[in-house]
Amino acid sequence: MRQRKAKGLDKRLAYCSEYLVKDLGRTDSPMKKSEGICEGIGDTYVEIGSGKGQFIIKRALNNPSGNYIGIEGQETVILRAAEKAMAVSGKAPWPENVAGREQLIGLTPVNPQASLEPRQEAVFLQKTSLNNLKFACCYVESMKDFFGENQLSGVYLNFSDPWPKKRHAKRRLTHHIRLMDYVRAIRDGGFIEFKTDNDPLFEFSVEEFRLCESNLQIVELTRNLHGADCTYDSACFTTEYEDKFSGRGKNINYIKATVIKQK
Ligand SMILES: C[S@@+](CC[C@H](N)C(=O)[O-])C[C@H]1O[C@@H](n2cnc3c(N)ncnc32)[C@H](O)[C@@H]1O
Repeated sequence: MRQRKAKGLDKRLAYCSEYLVKDLGRTDSPMKKSEGICEGIGDTYVEIGSGKGQFIIKRALNNPSGNYIGIEGQETVILRAAEKAMAVSGKAPWPENVAGREQLIGLTPVNPQASLEPRQEAVFLQKTSLNNLKFACCYVESMKDFFGENQLSGVYLNFSDPWPKKRHAKRRLTHHIRLMDYVRAIRDGGFIEFKTDNDPLFEFSVEEFRLCESNLQIVELTRNLHGADCTYDSACFTTEYEDKFSGRGKNINYIKATVIKQK
């Protein structure tokens, strides 16, 4: 859903500039485009349609040696994400209308069986510098515009817009043409993860993943991520939409596939 332009948008964006990449995709060489985005030297993970940022912030906190990039098309939404990152890292007061810091960094899965190991959680709670995270404001059409081949270790798609009309199927972020576009940017052994509350979109997406079976091996799949018998740790890394829908009792669908590159 399109958000109204936030009050004082430009000034507020400038204040959060340390969490924003302005020029993602604006240089000529795709191989160089994502270099130097984050300070970490480890693997790079991208969320497309990162919304207000809760998920990617949690991921970045939990894995300090990885680089995380949230890409989101709407500036007002990116602003919320960047302000959240500023607050989590203690560089700004907590913004109004955003869940409390403890709630955000406290990893509160609906299903306690899916919670992290105590050691992992301790690291998560201590880590607040967040120098391994950036947000970029743009709509992704093709990953080729931003990333070279095999540059990423994982792509996250969370609660992507459903585009319910059949004639708009190609616009869905899980259409097989798009999946293969992500595969190109992901290294052998990397992954694509997708979560949604939208059951028809999920069934469509599972078929699309299956269409790519020579490059994508499904390794985790559930139609109830927060159900009592589900132990996937993805349940710990909730998004804003996920909290909202699962809080209302809606089942959350989830699929993860590993990338296999042909030798
Ligand atoms: C339904 S919201 C979900 C937000 C967040 N992932 C969550 O789960 O809370 C989908 C978001 O994806 C963004 N979006 C949709 N298509 C996109 C694209 N091609 N590139 C970047 N962002 C996109 C929209 O602007 C919107 O904020």
